[in-house]
Amino acid sequence: MGTRTFRTAVVRTPSGPDAIEVIDVPQREPGPGEVRVDVAAAPVNPVDLGVVGGFFHSLGLIHQPHHTGLGWDFAGVVAAAGAGVDLAVGTRVAGLVVGFDRDFGTYAEQLVVPAADLAVVPDNLDLVAAATVPLNGLTAAQIVDLLGDPPAGGRLLVTGAAGAVGGYVVPLARDRGWRVTGLARAEDEEFVRGLGADFTTAAEPGWDAVADAAALQDRGLALVGDGGVFVGVRPNAHPAAERGVTVRAVEVHADGVRLADLLARTAAGELPARVHAVVPLDRVADAHRETAKGGVRGRYVLRP
Ligand SMILES: NC(=O)c1ccc[n+]([C@@H]2O[C@H](COP(=O)([O-])OP(=O)(O)OC[C@H]3O[C@@H](n4cnc5c(N)ncnc54)[C@H](OP(=O)(O)O)[C@@H]3O)[C@@H](O)[C@H]2O)c1
Repeated sequence: MGTRTFRTAVVRTPSGPDAIEVIDVPQREPGPGEVRVDVAAAPVNPVDLGVVGGFFHSLGLIHQPHHTGLGWDFAGVVAAAGAGVDLAVGTRVAGLVVGFDRDFGTYAEQLVVPAADLAVVPDNLDLVAAATVPLNGLTAAQIVDLLGDPPAGGRLLVTGAAGAVGGYVVPLARDRGWRVTGLARAEDEEFVRGLGADFTTAAEPGWDAVADAAALQDRGLALVGDGGVFVGVRPNAHPAAERGVTVRAVEVHADGVRLADLLARTAAGELPARVHAVVPLDRVADAHRETAKGGVRGRYVLRP
């Protein structure tokens, strides 16, 4: 019998959506502590557009000799488990794969990942919705960690509050005790207020902290009051600190335990789950083109 293969989307020479290829690669068996997942859903995130367009290659972060894998998060079903793994075949799971420099990704029919990076998806959450949680839910939770505890009555501005990351930062920061205002487009007011935040389309400076999910960078930092905290989303491009402001940037890492909590809260309706459209893997380039236009609320989710 020949080697089994599966389909996955990759780029060889990054130059935008037309460079995405769907290729066949050999199946791999899970090693100790790993599982193989049949992927049911994988969202298109802004970072994927950066990989396909060559931005992260140009920063020197990708050195793949043959092709670069696409996609960071996924949901699917356990197909095989390695030694020491306590997840039965058939278990519904979601997870996150981090890092730019890899030849595999979640835009694939299959994926081999450490079991510790996975969380079981609650029965009442479908796999498409679950797939949209890991990257941006964990990023938001880790942004809230970097903000630290609020001062008494501490006021937080979340830029990009209607985006995937910002839409999680708002409720998670409120839980932590921040008084939150969301900066977003005028048409996003209802969504942002629905998360329990105040709303603005043009913030004045002077916030105790800014969580910069819109990647406004220097413009976001300028909104922080003297001695406040700025948490950005570009670990490779910090704005320079000024006026005693603490400048941090999130670099998301997998965390199966925390992901389980985020999924449970999504299933309970406490956190948003926003899907714009489900498209087959063969239409990945179209999904990238549409996402690149901006203004999309909720994710394009690929079905391999
Ligand atoms: N460092 C990490 O570990 C990490 C992890 C995950 C994500 N990220 C980064 O975090 C950022 C946010 O990701 P995301 O998935 O949340 O993106 P997203 O869903 O596209 O959200 C960004 C939001 O910001 C809005 N926005 C942009 N400029 C604005 C402005 N001047 N005023 C008001 N709203 C504005 C966008 O609106 P429009 O669509 O209308 O422009 C959009 O709603 C991306 O840069 C992503 O690469 C970093």
